Amino acid sequence: MDKVTGEALYTDDLTLPGMIFGATLRSPHPHARIKRVRWKSASAPDGAICITSGDIPGPNGVQLLDDSWPVLADKIVHHIGEPVALTAAATREAAQRALQAIEIEYEPLPPALSWEEAEQLEPLYTLSLNHGDIQQAFTQADSIFEEEYRTGHQEQLYIECQGMIAWFDDDGMLKIIGSMQCPYYVQKALMHTLQIPEDKISVKPAAVGGAFGGKEDFPSLLAIHAALLARHSGHPVKMVYDRHEDLMVTPKRHPSRIRHRTGVSKEGRLLAMEIKIDLDGGAFQTLSPVVLSRAVLHATGPYRCPNVQIFGRVLRTHTVPNAAFRGFGAPQVHFAVERMIDHVARALKMNPFDIRKINVVHPEDRLATGQVLDESTSAHLVLEEVEKITKFRRRWRSMERARARRQGDEPMRGIGLSLSFHGAGFTGLGEHRMRSPATVRLTADGRMEVLTAQTEMGQGCSTILPQIAAAAAGLRLEDVIAHEPDTAVVPDSGPTVASRTTMIVGGTVERAARELRDRVIHWAQEHLGTGPDLEIRDSEVRGPKGSVSPFRDIGRACYEQGGPREVTLHHEPPAWQEFDESTYRGVAYATYGWAAHVIEVDIDPDTLEPRPLKATGVAEVGRVIHPTMCKGQFEGGTLQAIGYALTEEMKMKQGKYLNDRLTTYIIPTMKDSPKMEVTFLDRPWQGGAFGAKGIGELPMNGAAPAVIQAIENATGIIPVALPATPERLYRWMMEGRTTGED
Ligand code: MOS
Repeated sequence: MDKVTGEALYTDDLTLPGMIFGATLRSPHPHARIKRVRWKSASAPDGAICITSGDIPGPNGVQLLDDSWPVLADKIVHHIGEPVALTAAATREAAQRALQAIEIEYEPLPPALSWEEAEQLEPLYTLSLNHGDIQQAFTQADSIFEEEYRTGHQEQLYIECQGMIAWFDDDGMLKIIGSMQCPYYVQKALMHTLQIPEDKISVKPAAVGGAFGGKEDFPSLLAIHAALLARHSGHPVKMVYDRHEDLMVTPKRHPSRIRHRTGVSKEGRLLAMEIKIDLDGGAFQTLSPVVLSRAVLHATGPYRCPNVQIFGRVLRTHTVPNAAFRGFGAPQVHFAVERMIDHVARALKMNPFDIRKINVVHPEDRLATGQVLDESTSAHLVLEEVEKITKFRRRWRSMERARARRQGDEPMRGIGLSLSFHGAGFTGLGEHRMRSPATVRLTADGRMEVLTAQTEMGQGCSTILPQIAAAAAGLRLEDVIAHEPDTAVVPDSGPTVASRTTMIVGGTVERAARELRDRVIHWAQEHLGTGPDLEIRDSEVRGPKGSVSPFRDIGRACYEQGGPREVTLHHEPPAWQEFDESTYRGVAYATYGWAAHVIEVDIDPDTLEPRPLKATGVAEVGRVIHPTMCKGQFEGGTLQAIGYALTEEMKMKQGKYLNDRLTTYIIPTMKDSPKMEVTFLDRPWQGGAFGAKGIGELPMNGAAPAVIQAIENATGIIPVALPATPERLYRWMMEGRTTGED
């Protein structure tokens, strides 16, 4: 409601007494040695300050998985836009002017900008996975197909740009308010670089205007910058990027180059899959190892294949580091594997539905990790359901025929189908290691309050977590509130990432709310003489003889008279989930969400511009906790993936993004959105809150390949890269990458 009324305060809405503004001097070179840095304070605006890497009290690296991402470049710059120095002054404009008082001498070095050049450098990270006997399987295959697929950068394009405010209060406590997904990541990074103990830092998100993974890692860097300037100047410091700066320097989705070699039987059954994944990590590691891990673990798609070999690398280039974006490595590999499945179908003259039907995983099948899938496996169910709703199989065939008969400027129309999955929660033993806590407590006025570190960024967790607590405790929603995720107050329930909030943190909130309810009832029986067998429904506590009192009265009494006030529980991952991180064998994710997309497109016969008309999604994400928001997640993710498929592209020249403006980086708007129809299969999974699995990332995986198959169905052109812009489609057509006339 506060967003609708305009009352919500975003970072840039906030002002503190004495607040000054920061600005960043950035490298104009993709790779260069810094020979000299000079601060000509005489030519700077009055009172402006400047800091460089020499002013950093602790390690010069952002603590994430490691600390190899520099806070400020020291001797070498590794990408265009890398921060080299910071200024602060009384106004934004003065801080910008102060940048001109910094003189830097660079000696340019040769950059690695292409895949070929990147291969000459040491990879940032590698990973492999083996299952069965791939060599043997290839010798037995009836046909073998090979293809290389490429995807480009994708920018998260949250509406609110990155922003952070840092200051030290009178007690010397470092305070941070800003736009972020993971307040505890920011706190840890500040502890590391500023050498300040945990209890002297509090980090709190302001209202957050979207994130999509883009505020997973970068806010740690920006918070350090603002905090360094605050420490140096003695003033609160605000740093809020404008769109141009944000687009120019923040991490994006990793470009990929994925090679598939696939052996199949003559019926089209998958026998062997060899998959080589290269991700362009940019200049620094950031979160790339975990992105690659998710890419490897989703690389086969939701298909059964007894022999699999996957080799993944994150290569290093002299470009902005790439990191987290909704899907986290899975959208790239889904594009590749779905295209390969289509490739096999085309060669064997099979319907895209039929080839998926005979290869889709069922319960008791194994994934490439050896994980035996359980009853929560619904890939085959979503596939059948989407076919029932859309009649894809028949319509695809009739559009194939229509294409063959098409004449002149008749419209081109196609329909595409994809199947996708997504492991919710942290990969492997991540959730076991964290066993993240969540707290539910009574407030003085007898309500329940949920305390987690989960950030509301538009996805709805500030509604859903109280909703879960209310349902678990038998309360009405107005009797439950969520505390803001201030690290000084809330437990570290983990970052708001990896589609984990509802399923994992929500599950702990559910148990904690139930336990607090039980303890309060027990206390009331002993101290208020309410008698046994109390029941709470709709915030009313009912005794066995029909006596009723509001929960708030009992909660208030319990709070005031020294009864139980608070329950903290930890997430308990399933004990059977075992995963060997050295061999990548075992249960990488306790469960998966499953989705099928069918998307119809029109192609302009003159310009080859694709226009999506209708998207139908069927997903199984356990029990749907909040139908409207869950549907919103699916529709939003689908539209974001349609942008990935058709228009979103960072063009680069010599390591510089050319289209770092909203006018030139084109995302779909409401007007570009197809009509959407989303169906959820209701299959509660006992490991998540009220049976919920994760929803956030799943819809990002499958929509792009469905759009691309529809383009192929309409035009006969075979896309092998994203985005499938009219220019690329034209080129593939001229190169003869077409299905021919039959
Ligand atoms: Mo992240 S891409 O928000 O898991």
